[in-house]
Amino acid sequence: MTEALNPIQWKNNALVLLDQTKLPNEIVYEEFTTVESVWDAIVTMKVRGAPAIGVAAAYAVYLGVRDLKPDLDQTVLGKVVQKHVAYLATSRPTAVNLFWALERMTAVKITDASYKEALLAEAQAIHKEDEEINRMIGENLLTLLSDGIGILTHCNAGALATSKYGTATAPMYLAKEKGWNFKVYADETRPRLQGSTLTALELSRAGIDVTVITDSMAAMVMSQGKVQAVIVGCDRVAANGDTANKIGTLGVSILAKHYGIPFYVAAPTPTIDLNTPNGAGIPIEERHKSEVIEGFGKLTAPADVKVYNPAFDVTPAQHITAIITEKGIVRAPYGENLEKLFS
Ligand code: MRU
Repeated sequence: MTEALNPIQWKNNALVLLDQTKLPNEIVYEEFTTVESVWDAIVTMKVRGAPAIGVAAAYAVYLGVRDLKPDLDQTVLGKVVQKHVAYLATSRPTAVNLFWALERMTAVKITDASYKEALLAEAQAIHKEDEEINRMIGENLLTLLSDGIGILTHCNAGALATSKYGTATAPMYLAKEKGWNFKVYADETRPRLQGSTLTALELSRAGIDVTVITDSMAAMVMSQGKVQAVIVGCDRVAANGDTANKIGTLGVSILAKHYGIPFYVAAPTPTIDLNTPNGAGIPIEERHKSEVIEGFGKLTAPADVKVYNPAFDVTPAQHITAIITEKGIVRAPYGENLEKLFS
């Protein structure tokens, strides 16, 4: 087992991010001290994964006011925060954690003299809470699994996408602590390869049995009886349970349904968006064509070809066996049962 990678740290009054675009080849930690540089890190996916994006953006709000004059009027300071919040909200549209974290930063009271410190404390609280949430998700998920099974996961809803443990990977880390052995299949996850570059990296460093497959191999692996559960993360769960996650998740859910394999969504409550009634209302990010045709360091299609590159898709609620949150396991009817989580 090798030392765990730490995607987000608050160190020496700066935000330190592990540059995930360089993994698995290089482990490079980079320091960020401005709101613009954190925005850029989110857009270019140096930091990615719904919870991690939220945490990074929260720290960015503080970075944006940290060096302003101490005698600045609190109302002016509040306006600067609003400006940064609006700017950070333009970085990536799908993961609702970003907007949830920015709302929490906006809700910090401007009235007292220690407003700046309160902003930092809120960002640190969001960071810390995420770790606790993930551990609870892992414990809840573990009750649905048993020693020795095969688990397929898509993209990276791992420790690299969160403060610690990950969401979909949390039961894998906890099972390891218990002496259980899962056999994990990590979909490569085209076009950005988060499954092979990130999930395979973090699980193998933790001594967890992980096998990389290309996305097109999932059906074969399932048909061979190698998978007893699918566990994925999510970027936004709508009020009716429809769930946006990394592109390709919808296809995996259809395969799981076909082969009668339970399909679990690991969902921190900040990823549940009761204000969006169903999946049709979830904004889907489209990214640059270069990710699809230049992802391997050379052209893999004619340079001028048309490319469609949605970064996420929506799995309909009826494909989901259960949504596992830190507050418990939610099953259909999702509309009713998700709402109960917040009441
Ligand atoms: O584009 P990414 O890498 O940010 O997409 C990440 C995912 O889709 C994850 O599954 C999701 O954010 C959950 S992370 C706990």
